[in-house]
Amino acid sequence: MYARISGVGSYLPGQPVSNDELIKRGVDSTDEWIVTRTGIKSRHLAEPGCTTSDLAYEASCRALAAAGIAAGDLDLIILATSTPDFVFPSAACLLQSKLGNQGAMAFDVQAVCAGFVYALSIAEKFIRSGSHKRALVVGAEVFSTIMDWNDRTTCVLFGDGAGAIVLEAAEKPGILASSAHADGSFNEILSVPGQINCGKVSGDPFLRMDGPAVFKVAVRVLADVAKECCEAAHVPPAELDWLVPHQANIRIIESTAKKLGLSMDKVIVTVDRHGNTSAASIPLALDVAVRDGRIRPGQKILLAGIGGGIAWGAVLLEF
Ligand code: UT7
Repeated sequence: MYARISGVGSYLPGQPVSNDELIKRGVDSTDEWIVTRTGIKSRHLAEPGCTTSDLAYEASCRALAAAGIAAGDLDLIILATSTPDFVFPSAACLLQSKLGNQGAMAFDVQAVCAGFVYALSIAEKFIRSGSHKRALVVGAEVFSTIMDWNDRTTCVLFGDGAGAIVLEAAEKPGILASSAHADGSFNEILSVPGQINCGKVSGDPFLRMDGPAVFKVAVRVLADVAKECCEAAHVPPAELDWLVPHQANIRIIESTAKKLGLSMDKVIVTVDRHGNTSAASIPLALDVAVRDGRIRPGQKILLAGIGGGIAWGAVLLEF
């Protein structure tokens, strides 16, 4: 028994917000700095009150339609997010209720920007065990809600959005291999170090990042985990049709591609239009390339992500 993607969907809230628009709103930066250091030209920002489960719902409806199945057919819902609607219930349960599914196992995965590859590798194991047949795997975030808009070193980088896939039991693969790791000793270089304590927020509720430190780890571990996953699947990087990396910074993406010996025309890039949407970035990029016809059935695709934790992982699949 294997696990195969049968449908992909995504959703971005509102209109793109350009770098110049952010600067007009008071962010102390320049379009030139943001584009040169990150590759980001615009991002989407959710309206106040719009939640992760709202974005996840829209992306999920599109993925279910692409798979040609109904929400009631799902027996597993995994939602990767670091910006859930509430402390609990999980955003996955809220999504389940919006979709009108009853009875599927539903839970959130918290691995920040690596969340989608973590969630996908978990869903694959449920399906391959035979216990579940049809999973919805979603990455959705409203990172705009955890931005300090006075901190130019972070607020220009992130955006909101959601991406979803349907993963079904199948007789041919599917997911060929997955690898995931974490190193909690790096917890302080990327975090939202706040808590709810007896009804009060204590600590700092905004995203804080030592950008250069995260950059250094990211360029090392993304290429390493990508190679590890290729080895596990006996697929040399040269045989990959597409790399769909986490979209944080074009320089990290280019460095990862170079270390894998891949030219940039084999890499799906959306960071210019989406910014960093954390757990949503990989399924969003996947959906863009499926819908524009670049990713086609039978191709070998490597997904690779890294985020707070530090947590990172990769999934190699035949689409
Ligand atoms: O999704 C999770 C994974 N996250 C990542 O992978 C992010 C990894 N890190 C990065 O992408 C990069 O480190 C950043 C884009 C965050 C920063 O780029 P950098 O080239 O590492 O710049 P830096 O932090 O070393 O800052 C260089 C300069 C500093 O000024 P001084 O000290 O040289 O005078 C910053 O204050 O750029 C300044 N700066 C800015 N200037 C204009 C920092 N942010 C901005 C800004 N606009 N938005």
